[in-house]
Amino acid sequence: MPDEERIITPENQSNEDNVLDLTLRPRTLKEYIGQTKVKQNLEIFMQAAKQRGEPIEHVLLYGPPGLGKTTLAGVIANEMGVHIKVTSGPAIERSGDLAAILTNLEPGDILFIDEIHRLNKVVEEVLYPAMEDYSLDLVVGKGPSARVLKLDLPKFTLIGATTRISLLSSPLRDRFGVIYPLNFYEEDEIKKIVERSAKILFTDIEPPAAEILSQRSRRTPRVANRLLKRVRDFAQVRGDGRVSEPIAKQALDMLEVDALGLDQVDRKILLAIIEKFNGGPVGVQTLAAATAEEMATIEDVYEPFLMQIGFLDRTPRGRVATERAYKHLGMPKLSDEGFTF
Ligand code: ADE
Repeated sequence: MPDEERIITPENQSNEDNVLDLTLRPRTLKEYIGQTKVKQNLEIFMQAAKQRGEPIEHVLLYGPPGLGKTTLAGVIANEMGVHIKVTSGPAIERSGDLAAILTNLEPGDILFIDEIHRLNKVVEEVLYPAMEDYSLDLVVGKGPSARVLKLDLPKFTLIGATTRISLLSSPLRDRFGVIYPLNFYEEDEIKKIVERSAKILFTDIEPPAAEILSQRSRRTPRVANRLLKRVRDFAQVRGDGRVSEPIAKQALDMLEVDALGLDQVDRKILLAIIEKFNGGPVGVQTLAAATAEEMATIEDVYEPFLMQIGFLDRTPRGRVATERAYKHLGMPKLSDEGFTF
């Protein structure tokens, strides 16, 4: 299914999403809900740098999409009182693109590179001396007459974000001063995010409705905010604008987001494992072919949450649907064959 049609995809989709994101995004660590450990570490880390009058060291944030990596980078920039330039791995095609960005930074500025695992090798190699020595090493000319021209860069901070830390080369990973994982949120944290967002959007939401939204948002703030918006539309058109429990339930049922936040694609993946591969193990490539979904999307988007809620196991021989998945889908588990490995 194309991502635009998926209500629960944690990936950024539309311009509307971006505008909404900007309005709802917290600007300070205090406003940022959840990720307590990361916040505690960041607080010390930033205060120490401020006291020394230095920029913070390079930061790598990793974790599933939609958990607030870009938001957190914005919070860091705001707390440090510096500018942030936002770009992404695939957007930086040539080393000249990166050189242009780096030379335009001011001391202390933050460069945020989303999907940093998708930087190409040539660009990545320009980044090494830039990160390490604030030096831009440009190769001028070709062949035997080629020379390296060294330019000084302002002392900047790189914040990299990735959903796939395993795809990052070790020289790049080693150049980050701190590496923080972002984890799925607790349900009560998502509830607080929903209530905060509703307030910003001037939407009246009853606590049980906020609870339902938090249960169906895959513990992911971006999903929670998107569902809130759809539920708000539903309340406006089918009700009096107030988001009550029945309104929230009806809206989410209409969107085919079930009680645990799974949508048709999650169910399709689980059903394929169960029905076509006898519960697994099945390789992710085969699973992608069987479901007509992209392998990378299965790995980055669906799997992390299905594993988090204990519906899917990764084994050396492939993916396996768990007993819980069978139960949730109302499927009888006829044989245990798929569970031996
Ligand atoms: N919006 C997105 N992520 C958030 C978070 N962690 N806290 C508050 N609002 C958010």
